[in-house]
Amino acid sequence: MKVAVFSTKSYDREFLEAANNSVGHDLQFLEVRLSSNSAALAKGAEAICAFVNDDLGNPVLQALADLGIRLVALRSAGFNNVDLEAARRLGIRVARVPAYSPCAVAEHTTALILALNRKTHRAYNRVREGNFALEGLLGFDIHGKTVGIVGTGKIGEAFAGIMAGFGCRLLANDLMPNPACETLGAEYISRAEIFARSDILSLHCPLTPETHHMIRSDTLPQLKRGVMLINTSRGAVVDTRAVIKGLKEGIIGSLGLDVYEEEGDLFFENLSDRFIPDDVFARLLTFPNVLVTGHQAFFTRVPTSRRPPSRISAHSPIAAVRTTRFPSRGWPER
Ligand code: NAI
Repeated sequence: MKVAVFSTKSYDREFLEAANNSVGHDLQFLEVRLSSNSAALAKGAEAICAFVNDDLGNPVLQALADLGIRLVALRSAGFNNVDLEAARRLGIRVARVPAYSPCAVAEHTTALILALNRKTHRAYNRVREGNFALEGLLGFDIHGKTVGIVGTGKIGEAFAGIMAGFGCRLLANDLMPNPACETLGAEYISRAEIFARSDILSLHCPLTPETHHMIRSDTLPQLKRGVMLINTSRGAVVDTRAVIKGLKEGIIGSLGLDVYEEEGDLFFENLSDRFIPDDVFARLLTFPNVLVTGHQAFFTRVPTSRRPPSRISAHSPIAAVRTTRFPSRGWPER
């Protein structure tokens, strides 16, 4: 099958070519992002392969359908950039990656928490300049803290396993409880309650109309004062302007982001010889208690022999965490 692969980077090409060796599709690699302006480049293909910031709204899908495209293969777990209703109407099938590196994303989430808490990003710069002072680097014990997880699917479950290993109390919010998280000790509660009780709040739900701007001006006061907020799901789950207000008022104690509402104009490109045109993003970068990575949580090398866990298997590291001697609840607050 001839496939037009949009938003291709060198690493996409390397891994897709390797995966395609035994299959033999005709992959046409295109560096350009998919949009109304670039859709015509799919001419002659039967399918397109798209990434997180490609535009798959109604006009683009219509243009693809006119070219005879019948399949959109997303190389992402999230599908918020696709107008599924338009795809259905146009007879275009949409496929996504049902378990995109759940452990990788959960581990990156943990990395953000650890770095923010112990100010590793600041310590790194200080030590390189011969500054070994500890003022401003005081952290807290994660052990015993209450961690709220919104969205306990594959990534949320993997993250719950890691946090259980740290000896945290687990709170969860989802449309449906995940029995594996309950086994880890997670207590399912409402969104308002998880906002009010979490010392660390980590977002792992998809971007939908119900989760869009979940953290916004009028929900800020519901958050526990000084909360560490982590978003590795999709940028628009939080309203960035409101989050900046929350940081300035001390409601949000620290912020870790791997995704950003307007990341399409910034992420995955080297813009280091230009200025950042996005004033909201630039303001975020001025806070010492904010750590941003450029949508890299998924970006690990997974051995081809290791299948990603759809539900965590008995042999996975997460299962090992479940049998750890650390209880996931009942530890005293420090
Ligand atoms: P999943 O589909 O396994 O889990 C999502 C969970 O969110 C489900 O349990 C679902 O019931 C829950 N959910 C849906 N609507 C909700 C709501 N209104 N309130 C609370 N919970 C809700 O998906 P997975 O694989 O865990 O991925 C989660 C998200 O992480 C993806 O949708 C994607 O946006 C993001 N992601 C980010 C990556 C990165 O590199 N930063 C990589 C992969 C995914």
